[in-house]
Amino acid sequence: MPLRVLAVASEVYPLVKTGGLADVVGALPAALAKEGIATRTLVPGYPGVLAAARDAEVVHAWPALFGGPARLLATRAAGLDLLVVDAPQLFARPGNPYLGPDGVDWPDNALRFAALAQCAADVAGGGIAGDAPDIVHAHDWQAGLVPALLHYRGGPRPATVMTLHNLAFQGLFPRELLSTVGLPPQAFSLDGVEYHGMISYLKAGLTLADRLTTVSPTYAAEIRTPAGGMGMDGVLRLRAGALSGILNGIDEAVWDPARDKELASRFGAKHLARRDANKAALQARLGLAVDPLAPVFGVVSRLTLQKGMDLLHDALPMLTGAGAQFALVGAGDAVLEDRFTLAAQRDPRRVAVHVGYDEPLAHLMQGGVDALLVPSRFEPCGLTQLCALRYGAIPVVARVGGLNDTVIDANDAALAAGVGTGIQFAPVTQAALEMAIERTLVLWRDRAAWRRLQSRAMACDVGWTRPARRYATLYRSLVAGRRA
Ligand code: ADP
Ligand code: GLC
Repeated sequence: MPLRVLAVASEVYPLVKTGGLADVVGALPAALAKEGIATRTLVPGYPGVLAAARDAEVVHAWPALFGGPARLLATRAAGLDLLVVDAPQLFARPGNPYLGPDGVDWPDNALRFAALAQCAADVAGGGIAGDAPDIVHAHDWQAGLVPALLHYRGGPRPATVMTLHNLAFQGLFPRELLSTVGLPPQAFSLDGVEYHGMISYLKAGLTLADRLTTVSPTYAAEIRTPAGGMGMDGVLRLRAGALSGILNGIDEAVWDPARDKELASRFGAKHLARRDANKAALQARLGLAVDPLAPVFGVVSRLTLQKGMDLLHDALPMLTGAGAQFALVGAGDAVLEDRFTLAAQRDPRRVAVHVGYDEPLAHLMQGGVDALLVPSRFEPCGLTQLCALRYGAIPVVARVGGLNDTVIDANDAALAAGVGTGIQFAPVTQAALEMAIERTLVLWRDRAAWRRLQSRAMACDVGWTRPARRYATLYRSLVAGRRA
């Protein structure tokens, strides 16, 4: 019988997504299936999820779950085996899964994600929706209470794994909610869910999951330091023996330059000249000067301080002054959106900014820009640089987190050894970023060297096979440990 995993997450591509978490939760099950691991993914019944679960079977009902009845639906959608918590009082809200129309967190987020965790803990206990899983795999703070509820409920339970996709989001709520969200008084302690007088759903998972993973080896090291731990470094040092870093992959069927329908011209490493038509199409679509001799730097990103977007904005005069063009698709902080929009209005033939979330444009960007900029202050893994590698867009990245682990800096030694795949810079300052842009331009002007760089980038293994094997090994070791 295959090993059975219950994954618990608040996002799953293509049904609901605010960032890379959704991509990972959506792509990992198919890769794990090849390792003989069967994954069911438990997600909240947001409108987009319920729309995909129309033919679902009702496998359980809760008469009262935080203000109303709830049902558990089982269905297959988007190639995934899904369990959906249908609780309209909590999840029937369109738009961003965490924020109300005013852009502020929903006031009942503590209850919404306690509900997700309670349903997960009930399923994990067996008796609902078939057999109990061997492993429960919780993703980020929204699922952080799952290991805690299983721990405090006591009795037999599956092994638990918690993956940290981003420590900046911690799920902090008032201590008065402790019993409401299903936790006993003793949970409010240093080795429980207490965090500076509040309840942290993230810390609940960090302290009480059997094993912790994060999405790159470098981030796994960074988060154990005061500089990178966002206040959780102490806990993470205590749990260092249980923590490992497993890099993300990308879905190679979704991100395939040879088959991508969003491209003006599909291409492969052997037909790089076909890529040029995408650059021209991108320039035309965004109103940039259609000029093959102007290198185009692109960005596909949330617009936040994490992503270093303020530094990048300030580096734009240097970038355009050096003869390059800039194209951005992104959304996030209103102040950053406005600053980039203004920069585009000032110099529309050289700076193009598309504020919003636009997947087709993101694909054309990857297939058309010469270089993709990722100047993050911290980056647990990062997926856009992986897409860039696969599409021959040379990643120009800050030397942090997963960016450090996935891009090989094309310095002179690396080029002599024939191994560089992009440009890295440190520290994360405007000056270092500008030097990285300058280095990129020097490389770009050497057409033969640039082609070699693109071919090496495109040959990188960015798929899920290797990471899935590591998750499978981790799961198996946990199950074997319990049987022994
Ligand atoms: P994070 O999860 O921190 O936002 P990642 O690089 O891990 O960063 O994942 C971001 C994902 O969201 C990628 O799949 C990327 O293509 C996508 N993305 C980000 N911003 C946009 C946007 N404005 N339009 C379309 N896709 C976007
Ligand atoms: C988070 C991180 C990003 C990572 C993604 C998926 O959103 O910010 O670096 O790639 O999760 O793990």
